[in-house]
Amino acid sequence: MTEAKPPERKKHTLTTLFKKVADHVPITWLTCYDYPTAYLQERAGVDMILVGDSLGMTILGYDSTLPVTMDDMIRHSQAVRRGAPNTFLIGDMPYMSYQPGVETAIRNAGRFMAEAGCDAIKLEGGIEVCDRIRAVVEAGIPIVGHLGLTPQSVSALGGLRLQGKGAEQAKRIIDSAKALEKAGAFMIVLELVPDRVSKLITERAENCIIMGIGSGPDCHGQVLIYHDMFGLYPKFKPRMAKVYGNAGEVILNGLNQYVKEVTSRTFPQRENYFTMPDEEYEKLVKMLK
Ligand code: KIV
Repeated sequence: MTEAKPPERKKHTLTTLFKKVADHVPITWLTCYDYPTAYLQERAGVDMILVGDSLGMTILGYDSTLPVTMDDMIRHSQAVRRGAPNTFLIGDMPYMSYQPGVETAIRNAGRFMAEAGCDAIKLEGGIEVCDRIRAVVEAGIPIVGHLGLTPQSVSALGGLRLQGKGAEQAKRIIDSAKALEKAGAFMIVLELVPDRVSKLITERAENCIIMGIGSGPDCHGQVLIYHDMFGLYPKFKPRMAKVYGNAGEVILNGLNQYVKEVTSRTFPQRENYFTMPDEEYEKLVKMLK
């Protein structure tokens, strides 16, 4: 993190994302919620960033995504955009920002575009949200669908668990994917769906990019929650996530060391503070007499 200005890169468009699919090059996508992480993700060449409503858990410490508000999402999306000005940015519509109806959905989707500089938005749900998808697309906003485990419906789904293990439920997910595509979603993320089901959906997609999280290798690309990749979420690590480095442990070691050094007066060292010239100090002491 020492360079002042990262090298410029061209931001993806829908056309270049579809080109990756046509060229059989998997698309990389990560969640991100803050400026410094966005900077690093753009430097690493991640294709797309999702400001997920998972920030309710990873950043705000709630037990679910349900308490997250539009204002939370806009604030974090703005920070991410500042850190990654050249990355395709997707804002996640939080709970009750689109469920009430078409007009609410358009207004809130518009906020992500106008206030946070997003390139697209994402919402959860199947056939039942197709009217909102159609309306948001008609308003000129690219939209990503989300099927399988949809955390905003965690209570109705009976917990954070695999979706579509049985043939009937799998068929419903496959039908929903087709309905979302027909309604105009340019991309769908499948969360915790069996590999065989996501393969069928990916093979059947005609004008839609299929991304997976915990849904096997056959999607057009993968998405992961950043905090799960680096040991930064203390409550649990989902089985589907891979830990690429234990940043949580590194930070904790550093914090323990800081507490030790301040307590033992070994921090700060001479290079960590500033002083004033002797004559100014003497003048000051006189002034205080
Ligand atoms: O909110 C989120 O992080 C998500 C991902 C799991 C896709 O929706």
